[in-house]
Amino acid sequence: MQGRIVPANAEWIAEAAHMIRSGALVAFPTETVYGLGADATNGEAVARVFAAKGRPTFNPLIVHVAGIEQALMIGSFSATARRLTEAFWPGPLTLVVPKLETTNVSDLVSAGLPTVAIRAPDHPVARELLKEAHRPIAAPSANRSGHVSATRAEHVASDLGDSATLILNGGPTAHGLESTVLSLVGATPVILRPGAVPSDAIEQIIGEKIARANESGTHLSSPGQLRSHYAPQSKLRLNAKTWTPDEAVLSFGDVALRASHASINLSPSGDLIEAAANLFAALRTLDASGARTIAVTPIPTEGIGDAINDRLERAAAPRD
Ligand code: TXA
Ligand code: MG
Repeated sequence: MQGRIVPANAEWIAEAAHMIRSGALVAFPTETVYGLGADATNGEAVARVFAAKGRPTFNPLIVHVAGIEQALMIGSFSATARRLTEAFWPGPLTLVVPKLETTNVSDLVSAGLPTVAIRAPDHPVARELLKEAHRPIAAPSANRSGHVSATRAEHVASDLGDSATLILNGGPTAHGLESTVLSLVGATPVILRPGAVPSDAIEQIIGEKIARANESGTHLSSPGQLRSHYAPQSKLRLNAKTWTPDEAVLSFGDVALRASHASINLSPSGDLIEAAANLFAALRTLDASGARTIAVTPIPTEGIGDAINDRLERAAAPRD
């Protein structure tokens, strides 16, 4: 049943919503491109999205919501943000806002950032799925990393066929261009990715000029490179085989830990999906333990292990 293209009728949408709630991945049409969706509150489901995309790094994902009520449980919306949602939602405008401490959206969705990207899609199938699932749905474009975005169910099947349990076929998408990503977390709004909503339409609503991420030296267009990426205070020591009592330990697999400062095993059974789901929360916890150094035991580089190691290497790199 893997990768099965099914008609986006009421029965299959109900089945898809059930699968989302049970942690499976479902591809669905939005008005822009097809998305590969997972329950945003389920860390392992989100980890499987990264594994399916073949992303070498954890690029943060957009959380899809049914509407503003659900969005308000996830992020903090300023007056400007509220005005933009009133003008453009449902629709192809993604807003990056501060993430609420209280949200149950997984840390992995925004790759450890204190912010979250949210949008309410304007496609009857996406809206129905979100309503029935009763969950925010994290979804990147349903293509393999580096490939063009999928605008038809058949593209999804050929690119990601094995990872989606179901592909809801809603026909070709209307825009074929992704949503505009607008950050509202800095002093002024910044377009991180131009998309289906033009910037002058946004400027008209907020009554101020907005910057493009790559026009100014202070902004980097790829969030993977953003300085605001969560960086632990503690130093990281990678591929550690031994550790001292004052070091915290981040381990993976069957590792015998002797009493140390603080320790977390990302996955005692050696499951990389489970490890990815736990990574950011574990880093935060060990960081908060006050240890000067976190010793990290070796983590395999296969599959999503690549992204885990990439993230750890960034955190271990000397900072300026
Ligand atoms: O039209 C779309 O936006 C489609 C449909 C499926 O909704 N989705 C999509 O997702 O294009 P994806 O993962 O391919 O692109 C998401 C973009 C990336 O550029 C990512 O870096 C950015 O949104 N993004 C997500 N969360 C962010 C955050 N917290 N801060 C900054 N950028 C973020
Ligand atoms: Mg994409």
